[in-house]
Amino acid sequence: EKNHNVIFENSIEASKVVAQEIAELIRSKQVKNKTCVLGLATGSSPIKVYEELVRMHKEEDLSFHNVVSFNLDEYYPMTKENRQSYHYFMHQYLFNHIDIKPENVNIPDGTVAIEDLNQYCVDYELKIKEAGGLDFQLLGIGRTGHVGFNEPGSHINSGTRIITLDHITRVDASSDFNGIDNVPTRAITMGVSTILRSKRIVLMAWGQNKAAIIKRTIQGEITSEVPATFLQNHSNATFVLDQFSASEL
Ligand code: GLP
Repeated sequence: EKNHNVIFENSIEASKVVAQEIAELIRSKQVKNKTCVLGLATGSSPIKVYEELVRMHKEEDLSFHNVVSFNLDEYYPMTKENRQSYHYFMHQYLFNHIDIKPENVNIPDGTVAIEDLNQYCVDYELKIKEAGGLDFQLLGIGRTGHVGFNEPGSHINSGTRIITLDHITRVDASSDFNGIDNVPTRAITMGVSTILRSKRIVLMAWGQNKAAIIKRTIQGEITSEVPATFLQNHSNATFVLDQFSASEL
């Protein structure tokens, strides 16, 4: 178990390997009658992993009955029905197609009243703990170096909280929202410490436009200016890359 990078020719091959690891973890817990606690991510990077997991559910009898999931983040404010919500995304790509118990699905709720948010975030954190902690955390990375929505400035000890989105993040999301003015300015996100407590972390990055931030994340100094650099200190984190995101290493 150590921190390393794996570089694949393309994201399809890479995503199959990541999905295979998740499937093996789920099955290894099943034979012990244990729950498998997965931390899940949104964005374009994990889509092929979810498609592969759905395929394994349909064709290889992979069951998710023992899986408890916690998503990293959600825009705020955001309704569940909104096509841009991470709630919608997760159901579209994964939850609607597998046998996970609805009560085992946890996604930060973008409809919580602002005055109740602090307590809501404390409770989200507690729920992860009560589930036994994250066995596996899947991550993408934003061009700002965010993981989840832990934007530059995020402290290593940060927990689940509401944050203000970086301008670059909102620019990157603007095509999904039909213009930057429609992109929410805030989000609820698991914290850096929430993520780092996961027993296993896999960060995926595809394409040339991630090459610069991948170089800083893996080879740069550890700093809250690039929150993903905190992963360098995790004992069991792997950066799964394609040849393009790895091109500056
Ligand atoms: C969003 C998500 C992040 C994700 C990032 C990268 O900001 N909140 O968790 O890692 O996008 O997105 P993509 O995978 O589409 O490049």
